[in-house]
Amino acid sequence: MRRALIALLGAGALLLAALVAVALPAAAAPSTLREAAAAKGRVFGAAAAQSHMGESAYASTLDREFNQLTPENEMKWDTTEPSRDAFNFGASDQLVAHAQAQGMKIRGHTLVWHSQLPGWVGGISSRDDLLSAMRNHIAKEAGHFAGKIAYWDVVNEAFQDGSGARRDSVFQRVIGDGYIEEAFRTARAADPTAELCYNDFNIDGQNSKSNAVYALVKDFKARGVPIDCVGFQAHLTLGNVPSDMQANMQRFADLGVDVHITELDIRMSTPADGSKLATQASDYKKVVSACLAVSRCTVITVWGVTDKYSWVPDVFPGQGAALLFDDNYGKKPAYEASLEALGGADPGDPGDPGTVTCTYARTAQWDTGFNGQVTVKAGASAVSSWTAVLTMGSGQQISGLWNGTPSTSGNVVTVRPVGWNADLAPGASASFGFTVNAPGGNQAAPSLTCGSP
Ligand code: G3I
Repeated sequence: MRRALIALLGAGALLLAALVAVALPAAAAPSTLREAAAAKGRVFGAAAAQSHMGESAYASTLDREFNQLTPENEMKWDTTEPSRDAFNFGASDQLVAHAQAQGMKIRGHTLVWHSQLPGWVGGISSRDDLLSAMRNHIAKEAGHFAGKIAYWDVVNEAFQDGSGARRDSVFQRVIGDGYIEEAFRTARAADPTAELCYNDFNIDGQNSKSNAVYALVKDFKARGVPIDCVGFQAHLTLGNVPSDMQANMQRFADLGVDVHITELDIRMSTPADGSKLATQASDYKKVVSACLAVSRCTVITVWGVTDKYSWVPDVFPGQGAALLFDDNYGKKPAYEASLEALGGADPGDPGDPGTVTCTYARTAQWDTGFNGQVTVKAGASAVSSWTAVLTMGSGQQISGLWNGTPSTSGNVVTVRPVGWNADLAPGASASFGFTVNAPGGNQAAPSLTCGSP
């Protein structure tokens, strides 16, 4: 009797499941980073600067794609407490308000760091005095934002590269090893709801520096010093994602802390080209996949919205193109790869097998250039948009383009419709034209791929 009842219930459940499957249309894959990350229980963030928020493409890209914001410079000590005990939260308050209005979490960056430190801090030579200045800074800043910050980078970059030694800073010299613990205890008291993180670069794989951070976290956990997370900055170079990144994050997670990728960018020598952008896409995919494979890896944040304003070319001349959006806010292959790794899909992804084909024709030619035309043709189904990607040859540059909207990254030009020529009925086509300057006389056809949702 009991067995028969179980069988009956089982059959009923199957029937119900079948009905539900018929009744509910398959959900479309998420089409933005923030939606795709949320579906995986993660957040996907970007560093942002208040000075760029008035640029509409900057703010709209930030708002559309990201659900966590890290103020790039506005919460650093030289901005928030330029002279002792005189605080300035103008720009950071604006960023916090923006993030809240957009449903974004906020990463506080950063309370104690040797860089972007006002001169008066460096001038303190008594241990008690510096401890009191540091505690006051943390109490007032973390206190000011209390309840609004999801994660604080409490201490940033306290270890030396290439060794497990502490970095020489005024905090290390004057207070000694205990300053990190003091900072975390003070931060917890000032904002009991924020997750408190230690954040550093070149700790993404296992090495002597990440071993030292590991030992610090292990010690803090054993002694009950409040620490909740470790930030792996992940300022990486092309083709060099550490092969043990996932294993490294996992060993920290196993200590009982969350792990966050906090400042991700992958720089290359500029100008970018199709092959470097493809390597970068595969690198981003590796990083996102490593995070998804670690259940305590809850945050991925890129260090900027667009290549246009990245810190990289300022510090590494001749390098750049490190982020997900190009100078014109066009989505780069790394964007598509990150979105796909998160289980999302971009309706306009030129890499997706589309239902359009495209052809190139040269329509005019002279010694130092030529005109080209690309025709995009729909297949058996109508399409509502299309993308054509031109990779220009050496010494070639597009000087004008009509009936399309170009977005350029190095020698790769991604062209989308202008609006009126987006919709194509089955078998219908749209064309755009362009002028190429080729002072060296290179008349070779640019390589061409195209796609459509
Ligand atoms: O605001 C001034 C401006 O008034 C002045 O005209 C201009 C002239 O140089 O400088 C401006 O300040 C610059 C500031 O960024 C804002 O743009 C500083 O010179 C410049 O040094 C500063 O760079 C920041 C850098 O940290 C400083 O160390 C970058 O924007 C910021 O992206 C970078 O971020 C760090 C993280 O905080 C920690 N991890 C590494 C990461 C990359 O270096």
